[in-house]
Amino acid sequence: MARARSGVDVAPRGRVPYGPPRAAPAAVIPTATLITLLACAPDDSPMPRSIATIPFGTTATGEVVDLFTMTNANGIEVRAITYGGIILSIKTPDRDGRWDDIVLGFDSLEPYEAGSPYFGSIIGRYGNRIAGGRFTLDGETFTLATNNGPNHLHGGDVGFDKVVWGGEPFEREDAVGVAFTYTSVDGEEGYPGTMEVRVTYTLTDANELIFDYRATTDRATPVNLTQHSYFNLAGGAAADILGHELTLDASRFTPVDTTLIPTGELAPVEGTPFDFRTATTIGARIDDDHPQLAAGLGYDHNFVLDGDDPDVTSGLAEKNREGLHRAAFVFEPLTGRTLEIHTAEPGIQLYSGNFLDGTIAGKAGRVYGHRSGFCLETQHFPDSPNQPAFPSTIVRPGEEYSTRTVLTFGVAG
Ligand code: BGC
Repeated sequence: MARARSGVDVAPRGRVPYGPPRAAPAAVIPTATLITLLACAPDDSPMPRSIATIPFGTTATGEVVDLFTMTNANGIEVRAITYGGIILSIKTPDRDGRWDDIVLGFDSLEPYEAGSPYFGSIIGRYGNRIAGGRFTLDGETFTLATNNGPNHLHGGDVGFDKVVWGGEPFEREDAVGVAFTYTSVDGEEGYPGTMEVRVTYTLTDANELIFDYRATTDRATPVNLTQHSYFNLAGGAAADILGHELTLDASRFTPVDTTLIPTGELAPVEGTPFDFRTATTIGARIDDDHPQLAAGLGYDHNFVLDGDDPDVTSGLAEKNREGLHRAAFVFEPLTGRTLEIHTAEPGIQLYSGNFLDGTIAGKAGRVYGHRSGFCLETQHFPDSPNQPAFPSTIVRPGEEYSTRTVLTFGVAG
């Protein structure tokens, strides 16, 4: 497999970068890669996939929180809890078969409740910002919590990241998973309508973590669900994420004002530090003198995914995985770990962990310094309820909100 250097070359399709030797036909895999595959496999034979449920803790208000441990046939392990649907850890091998946890978070429930920057959680009802915490729908104006300066962020004071979800484990022939369910009542955080929400995490033997989001409502409401994991693919090998090589299949982004609300423009990335159409380290231009980087204190922007858009010509958009388009590919050079993201969503927020400042001690006491994790949040565009030109985020009674994002873990070079 070619070392991940260029945007096109680093995105091999349909491959299972490591996995059970049985699932990897040697005839189509170069010898060097096969050696890596074998070295990465925790055993010569596929591990039994499993899903286990144990109690994780009790919230301050006395609600019991469960922990699910999902393991696929290759040994990849994802742990998630019913509080906020939070992903606690994702363990994958590097190119030399060393396993590490590639997401930020805490070891116990208490710090998640005490104040977490949305580590690993489900975000809702509305991922990202709504200007002034207000929107008008069908002639009625709704007022939401302004929990981020003058704006509403990530669902408000008690968003979907801070509630206890129902959780049901499941097992399929080639995957294990958990279905999280939550009823968001009419008026919760100011939103109209009672909404039934179901978010499923599925870990497949093809090393994919699939997020399926579904919601129905009894009254028209905005909805924009996403997942807020902070990745550091180096695991413990690098303090920050600036060396990660990122490709984004986006020819445009949505510039923001100083409070991070989109101006409404879809600006070309061409010739700016926002051009990730070929693999570029996150750190290469993050401190450039650019007004948008100044507004975000780094990257904290929504990118407009090329998808099927005939108006954009980057040529990088790929359709596969049942109609999803590729959004991003990340390569971490120290460990060789890769992360590829496909989605049905029109946008993706690149957040480079600018607000992490060394004041949070996470797992095993590790201090999370500036830019020690990045988020790639698939989404509709921020502030869509106030921006009629953006794709609509309104779901109405009788409709089903349904969207999917697929993360694929691998190794390269
Ligand atoms: C937002 C950031 C925010 C962060 C919270 C991201 O999705 O874009 O502005 O600070 O979430 O941790």
